[in-house]
Amino acid sequence: MSSNSPTKLSLCFILFIFTCMQSETAQLQEAKIMAVYLQDRTRGPNTTVVPIAGIHGKAWTYFSFGTVYCADDPITEGLEESSAQIGRAQGIFVISSLDGSIAQVLLSLVGTNEEYSGSTIEIQGPSRQLEKAREVAVVGGTGKFRYARGYVTFETVVLDLANSYSVVRCNITLEQDLYDVYRPE
Ligand SMILES: *[C@@H]1O[C@H](CO)[C@@H](O)[C@H](O)[C@H]1NC(C)=O
Ligand SMILES: *[C@@H]1O[C@H](CO)[C@@H](O)[C@H](O)[C@H]1NC(C)=O
Repeated sequence: MSSNSPTKLSLCFILFIFTCMQSETAQLQEAKIMAVYLQDRTRGPNTTVVPIAGIHGKAWTYFSFGTVYCADDPITEGLEESSAQIGRAQGIFVISSLDGSIAQVLLSLVGTNEEYSGSTIEIQGPSRQLEKAREVAVVGGTGKFRYARGYVTFETVVLDLANSYSVVRCNITLEQDLYDVYRPE
């Protein structure tokens, strides 16, 4: 067989592409944009997260497979609920692993203040609920965050069960190439 057999050629081609991909990945630089806080209430007049569907005849909880939640959390600049509101975290999440430990998150960070109004960051992927820091992908954005890609981490930093209140810190890390476009002051 000749050494230029189609199989060998295509293998070379695949290796070539793989090498290119590797060097591109190596060039990616991260830029931590900011840490923001999601203010979460699951009961009372100011509830921001509600279960909207689940398996018939079973309890709808954060750890029962098939439960769907809808959320509209205020996003604040600081940990305190009274600190400046910069946006809303709006979307849905579904308990997506049979053992209840993973939630599939479809969440938009929607800017509402002067600086970020009209801009969004799109978050999508599995969140390992039992981990201290849950990492989920940033898959896109609009406005100041057009073409955004990166990841966020979610960490529960306040858990006040008596008042059904919690605060989740969301650290947003995006690819450096875009950073100059929306570098915060
Ligand atoms: C609900 O929100 C309103 C307006 O921000 C506030 O005045 C009120 O104290 C809140 N109620 C509770 C139970 O948190
Ligand atoms: C998120 O950011 C805060 C503040 O900068 C930092 O203390 C914390 O360790 C970060 N969390 C993760 C998971 O990187």
